[in-house]
Amino acid sequence: MSDNRPLAGKTAFVTGGSGAIGRYSAKYLLRDGAAVLLMARHPELLEKARSELLREVPDGRVEIFAGDARRAEQVRAALRQACDIANRLDILVPTVGGSIGYRPLLMCSEDDFRKDLEINLLTTFIVVRYGVPLMARGGAIVCISSTAAKMPFNGLVGYGTAKGGLENFVQGAAEELGAAGIRINAVRPGLMRANNNDRLMQEPIHGKFVEQMPLGRTGEPDDIAAAVRYLAGPESSWVTGQSFAVDGGHELRRNPDLTFMMEEMYGREAIAAVRQGKPPKP
Ligand SMILES: NC(=O)c1ccc[n+]([C@@H]2O[C@H](COP(=O)([O-])OP(=O)(O)OC[C@H]3O[C@@H](n4cnc5c(N)ncnc54)[C@H](OP(=O)(O)O)[C@@H]3O)[C@@H](O)[C@H]2O)c1
Repeated sequence: MSDNRPLAGKTAFVTGGSGAIGRYSAKYLLRDGAAVLLMARHPELLEKARSELLREVPDGRVEIFAGDARRAEQVRAALRQACDIANRLDILVPTVGGSIGYRPLLMCSEDDFRKDLEINLLTTFIVVRYGVPLMARGGAIVCISSTAAKMPFNGLVGYGTAKGGLENFVQGAAEELGAAGIRINAVRPGLMRANNNDRLMQEPIHGKFVEQMPLGRTGEPDDIAAAVRYLAGPESSWVTGQSFAVDGGHELRRNPDLTFMMEEMYGREAIAAVRQGKPPKP
């Protein structure tokens, strides 16, 4: 019997595959017929994600690879495993990213800044650099940016810099890869439910974000996964080099003032000092 699902026969590679955006994106790709390989570091979380996905799509093909997306040789091994599923690779979804946490610029070390760039930018570069040569029939790459790419977040300068750089990377790569039939775009999520952002999703911080969102709620992984699926599939076949916000309209307003949270984290004096351009005393 022929499979008429829009992604039937295709193979997708998802880093951060046990995380909120990775897992839900994989679900949307799987439902529409793609085989999926999930990569992340902890094997038990990957196994759990695979079981959940197979409950949703019992006839789906889901493979897992435990490894660190900052390490090119591990990503290359995972990409090869994905390609071996059906001797092709069509869709790359590098979702790994995040921040060192809210920390004023003048409290950041070189290592802090490097970590933000590495986890957001380098992990995406590695997937694209080594995934594209395996995409012999062309394909689609969907990266994950953040509202921080467009709006300055007090305390997240390294993260915002990395995501802003990621959006520029998407444009440059789209220009270079178009002739090979490879599209690359990004989704720019606003605050949403995920594995590791409990503090932001609790009151009073959650409410302060919601106040800045015209649609009156924070996001769910499904909100982002639907956009990833659009950018990965044939419906977006004339779209490349774009990053678009899926954020309840947050970009129309501004970021909440979270000074109180940083005062709780670092002390009032320290925050007052950095406001004056002085690093706090050790
Ligand atoms: N959640 C939000 O509100 C939000 C908003 C805007 C943008 N984003 C962006 O969305 C992306 C995905 O975040 P999420 O919300 O889905 O996060 P999440 O639920 O915390 O998931 C993160 C995933 O990445 C994996 N991971 C982390 N470090 C890794 C590494 N070095 N190598 C391989 N895998 C690694 C984690 O698994 P292991 O720990 O087992 O490796 C997990 O699978 C990030 O780029 C983030 O910046 C999120």
